Amino acid sequence: MFWKIFSGRKTKNIVKRTKKSCIETTFAYPLAIKTGSGCFLEDVDGKVYLDFNSNVCSCNIGYGHPEIIGVLRSFSEVGAHKIAGQDFYTEEQIKLAEKVLKITPRNLSRVLFTNSGAEAVENAIKFAYRKKGPLAGVSFFRAFHGRTIGALSFTDSKAVQKKYYPEVNNELIKYCTDDNDPDINQLEELIKREAEPAFVIVECIQGEGGYRPASKKFIKTLREVTKKHDVPLIFDEIQAGMGRTGKWWSFQHYDVEPDIMTVGKSLQVGAVVSSKKYDPNEPGAVSSTWGGGHRIDLAVGLKTIEIMEKEKLIDNANIMGDYFMKRFKEMQERYPEKIVDVRGLGLMIGVEFNDEKQRDIVVQKAFKNKLLLLGCGFKTLRIAPPLIIKEDDANQGISIIEKIVRELR
Ligand SMILES: Cc1ncc(COP(=O)(O)O)c(C=O)c1O
Repeated sequence: MFWKIFSGRKTKNIVKRTKKSCIETTFAYPLAIKTGSGCFLEDVDGKVYLDFNSNVCSCNIGYGHPEIIGVLRSFSEVGAHKIAGQDFYTEEQIKLAEKVLKITPRNLSRVLFTNSGAEAVENAIKFAYRKKGPLAGVSFFRAFHGRTIGALSFTDSKAVQKKYYPEVNNELIKYCTDDNDPDINQLEELIKREAEPAFVIVECIQGEGGYRPASKKFIKTLREVTKKHDVPLIFDEIQAGMGRTGKWWSFQHYDVEPDIMTVGKSLQVGAVVSSKKYDPNEPGAVSSTWGGGHRIDLAVGLKTIEIMEKEKLIDNANIMGDYFMKRFKEMQERYPEKIVDVRGLGLMIGVEFNDEKQRDIVVQKAFKNKLLLLGCGFKTLRIAPPLIIKEDDANQGISIIEKIVRELR
């Protein structure tokens, strides 16, 4: 009801038809996007919104970049064939693979492109099973790795995502955000008590689980224990990767390297990036018709990385990440009874409220004020604007949030 008051006519029409014919997914608010520019999106009714979530980190370079438009234009000459480098080769695939390997640690030397993040996770765990056999895999409380059955088995984010579905053999253990957590060595204890797992999969900063950075010691311990027992360690960089945290990959904050990592969202396609050791290296063992999504997606992914390098967007993620962090910490000092925690890395910041209701009111009122926000975890607001954001746009959004927080009861 609340939403209907401020949706435009064309949006209302699209929402109504969608609700009638499409299966409900995760629609957050009645916004039907037409176009965008910089950090702003325009809906089909001409309303302009400032974006503080980058479509869950999928649009790190913002909207309407002329060089991306140039890539799209170039395909108008050759056609948009649905070919992505599985049964045939395409230059777009190898160019993106070579580029991805340039920005990842040297021990990762093989790439498989996939349609989505979840499909990247499926393939990452398949790589591990091939070496270790069908043992249990280990993941962490509040993790999110996707909604396909394999990826979902290692997800522990919301009950609604999992109920009714069977699970692949898994063990869930505690995700430690504090170096002094007594459970920090749980993995080794689990291995001693039960058996070595097929793999360990972890987000160095949990996304859907509430924008929670892992403790340094926790990630280092996971790396030491998995090395000691020869268990592949998979870092899921689907939300936190691609420069979002102020480094290309969030694990770089922890001075460790994975055996396998998964990428998605801002890369425009999914990807598994693996060390040679875990490359399945057998024709037909892994593939899919639309693996890399599309030649256009692969080309846009490459251009996205090039733009990030050229425009030094990782530097900006650090500078503006510090700025956002400072502003939200100040806000927390002013409203400690409403904002209970501010945390994050780079431009992946979680602002945690006292309760879920307060957080949801902020999301809804922000939308009314043409600011796009999304929640995560139980009661956290995710702050993840495009990495191009500057102080002017940041201030505009922060003022909207502060006004809403001030009025919260
Ligand atoms: C950390 C992480 N892994 C995996 C996924 C699944 O990606 P997709 O939605 O593209 O299947 C997501 C999506 O939010 C994610 O945040």
